[in-house]
Amino acid sequence: MSRNLKSPFRTKTVEQSIRDTEEPEHALRKSLSAWDLTVFGVGVIIGTGIFVLTGIAARNNAGPATALAFVAAGIVCALAALCYAEFASTVPVAGSAYTFSYASIGELPAWIIGWDLVLEFALGTAVVAVGWSGYVRHLLSTNLGWDLPAALSGPDGGGTFDLLAFLLVLVLTAILVVGTKLSARITAIVVAIKVTVVLLVIVAGLFFIKADNYKPFIPPAQAQPPGSGWKAPLVQLIFGYAPTNFGVMGIFTAASLVFFAFIGFDVVATAAEETKNPQRDMPRGIIGSLIICTVLYVAVTLVVTGMEKYTQMSATAPLAEAFKSVNQPFFSGAISLGASVGLITVCMILLLGQTRVFFAMSRDGLLPRFFSVTHPRYRTPYRATITLGVIIAVVAGFTSLEKLAELVNIGTLFAFVVVALGVIVLRRTRPDLHRSFRTPWVPLVPILSIAASVWLMLNLPAETWLRFGIWMVVGFVVYFLYSRHNSRLARAGQDAEF
Ligand code: ALA
Repeated sequence: MSRNLKSPFRTKTVEQSIRDTEEPEHALRKSLSAWDLTVFGVGVIIGTGIFVLTGIAARNNAGPATALAFVAAGIVCALAALCYAEFASTVPVAGSAYTFSYASIGELPAWIIGWDLVLEFALGTAVVAVGWSGYVRHLLSTNLGWDLPAALSGPDGGGTFDLLAFLLVLVLTAILVVGTKLSARITAIVVAIKVTVVLLVIVAGLFFIKADNYKPFIPPAQAQPPGSGWKAPLVQLIFGYAPTNFGVMGIFTAASLVFFAFIGFDVVATAAEETKNPQRDMPRGIIGSLIICTVLYVAVTLVVTGMEKYTQMSATAPLAEAFKSVNQPFFSGAISLGASVGLITVCMILLLGQTRVFFAMSRDGLLPRFFSVTHPRYRTPYRATITLGVIIAVVAGFTSLEKLAELVNIGTLFAFVVVALGVIVLRRTRPDLHRSFRTPWVPLVPILSIAASVWLMLNLPAETWLRFGIWMVVGFVVYFLYSRHNSRLARAGQDAEF
């Protein structure tokens, strides 16, 4: 691509990306293996999506066919994963889709994607913290009979400030400052608990399925209440028909929401720089964790929608409530407890992904380089971690869940589009690079990945598009006022002139 160093499409070479990570004061420790990455992947993927959004999607959009929505979202992610894996194994440095696009399409697209990933990870962390807080309150309330004052229960709990979500983010920030290795160890234990809970739901729940709950499997389409135009999926507005819930289109609406449940396999790619052998371990970690999670999600959804009529499902703790509905308080309590523990890792890894993207952008000079200095003892990007942790804690304290999840989804799907484009571009511009994992059937698979991601984006509400548009406009302003002049490549361009 463009080697004109003044162009917004100037690219950073892959070799330069790798070399930058070797500067001692800006280097992260290489300590993760393929196993760590898979644990890391499953640790972040299974979370609020399956534990909370399943209930919302089944009740509002797709009924038992939410299981099909998971399949649809899983296919979108599988296509994207094939592209991500090639990129992650070619450009093994921190920053995920951001780094990949910097090396392939150019600085401006990389900035856009980095800005977009900040949205994904920061708001994703907040969503999960809020989901966690809901489960903890549910646990305290139903098992100990103790209710947090409403004012401190957050917008979803009928209050204003979510104290638990706020505190969780601050504590996790402190853990991340101390070091990735410690976090990976905690992650492994918590992931084991989380997967056990999910398996418990599937196996124990099988005994309580009633075939009647599956009828109708795809509930018939229903008109949305008048005046809800902005809340309708964009695709329905574009084609000008009256917005509906349920029906076949409802499956795609549900898919665009439960897509959140898959977010995280891309986060694995952000840890490339801390991986011992990224060329081999990255593709294994990404694709392995994605397959495991898809199978579990479909099974969980089929079980819970078989246990309880979709119209009755809880929007806050659907898995635990399904067991309560069949008079199994012990299982219900165990699931709530496991979910409360499990959501912690999700939150922590999203926060980690967030700081790593921010770190990479700062190291490149697109954000102030102040943030990319690593801690002399812990070797972690502590300045970025602390700054973002505090901001996210405040966001988590004051926001509610569903709308944020939709915004996270649109940002992530957009990142998928850029990564798929990047695979095609890099194959042409740098055919010489060693790729330990090659996406099959290029350009067919990347093109299918782009089409599938755009389709899910179109199924998100119009208001989500508007919010996303505003965020991106702000990003453009920051780029043209600050980053464009301060990036390393810009400075290199100036040096070249003198
Ligand atoms: N996939 C993660 C979740 O469901 C982000 O919470």
